[in-house]
Amino acid sequence: MPSPLDGLPVALGVSGSIAAYKAVDLASKLTQAGALVDVVMTSSAQKFVTPLSFQSITHRPVTSDPFDPQTEMGIDHVAVAERAGIVVVAPATANTIAKMAHGLADDALSVMLLATAAPVIVCPAMDGNMYANSATQYNLGTLKDRGITIAGPAVGRMASGLVGAGRLIEVREIIGHMSVVLGRSGDLAGRKIVVSAGGTQEPIDPVRFISNRSSGKMGYAIAEAARDRGAAVTIVAAPGALADPVGVQVVHVETAMEMQNAVVAASEDVDALIMAAAVADWRPRDSADQKLKTGKAVSSELQLEKTSDIVAGVSREGLVKVGFAAETEDLESNAQGKLAKKGLDLIVANDVSAEGSGFGSNTNEVVLIDADGGRETPGLLPKYEVGHRILDKVRGYLK
Ligand code: PMT
Repeated sequence: MPSPLDGLPVALGVSGSIAAYKAVDLASKLTQAGALVDVVMTSSAQKFVTPLSFQSITHRPVTSDPFDPQTEMGIDHVAVAERAGIVVVAPATANTIAKMAHGLADDALSVMLLATAAPVIVCPAMDGNMYANSATQYNLGTLKDRGITIAGPAVGRMASGLVGAGRLIEVREIIGHMSVVLGRSGDLAGRKIVVSAGGTQEPIDPVRFISNRSSGKMGYAIAEAARDRGAAVTIVAAPGALADPVGVQVVHVETAMEMQNAVVAASEDVDALIMAAAVADWRPRDSADQKLKTGKAVSSELQLEKTSDIVAGVSREGLVKVGFAAETEDLESNAQGKLAKKGLDLIVANDVSAEGSGFGSNTNEVVLIDADGGRETPGLLPKYEVGHRILDKVRGYLK
């Protein structure tokens, strides 16, 4: 399944803030994802970045003067507004937000915003006191009431030197908000899905633990794919370096036992549970309260005990259960055994010794084996794409 941004006409409104330089990066990332980005700038935005910066990146004309007969807006003043599949205003200044709230149309950006029927995301960026001002808060409330998504601002250091709420959110987050908005009409809209991710950590003492090589990328990719199709998604995440995706609830855990408790709680009323996490099968029987000293005589034998099988223990009428099988030999026969033993609808057999597959990579090569004997081999794909293939199967099982 292609990215929801692929081929999508996006209108990017840029108003006059020091954060306008981040909009150049946003235009670049959207263009790389296949979006057709039409940039519409205010005159004050042009004091910070030039139309040429955007034009060079998007390879499309930039609108900045509604009366310029050479631009598309000069010929058809609502063409960009009508073409857009989604509109993003980033950065949105207090002035632009006020104009939107009051329906003004006195420059290229405000004309486009008033004329569009597409969903709109506003990403505020301004001085903290301007953001906190009751006029701005009232205007943002008005926009929210009209169904406009307000994304941010972030808290941090602003150009004024003040620390507070007013910074433009990160480009990654803006694209996350776009995915949430675009996913609302997806084929999993109204569905709830829990995904586990990462490798659990089982403590030996306060500074040492037993774990594995899972980065969490596979689980996060499934979660993002489900979000992009409209599902309400919860990730139960073991420790890792990945940022929480926008629009997904993330429950952070460390041990297998914590993951079990979180998965059981989160799965109560969901449609599907997808266990991509590499849960430790064994944990130290005793975890020392203090750091074990290397100088003293310490038993070299670590006593281990079995952890509970999380996915096998969660069972409810109508719940779709997907497990993974991380294998280094006898891939499909081992996976078949786990499918039956754990009561799964689908198992994702994962040869973790293959090149570009398994732990830490951005791609994965899996075999999808279902309880009815179906078998699919999607080939080596980005993990996000593997996530969609799994979700295609899940959708088929949903009642
Ligand atoms: O996170 P990445 O770096 O992207 O790597 C992805 C991955 C290789 C971790 C992932 O693709 C994968 O294969 N995950 C499953 C890893 C695993 O623990 O496999 P397993 O064969 O040991 O377990 C079988 C299934 O039982 C899994 O769904 C597992 O989550 C589940 N399980 C295992 C043990 C346990 N105590 N409880 C469980 O629920």
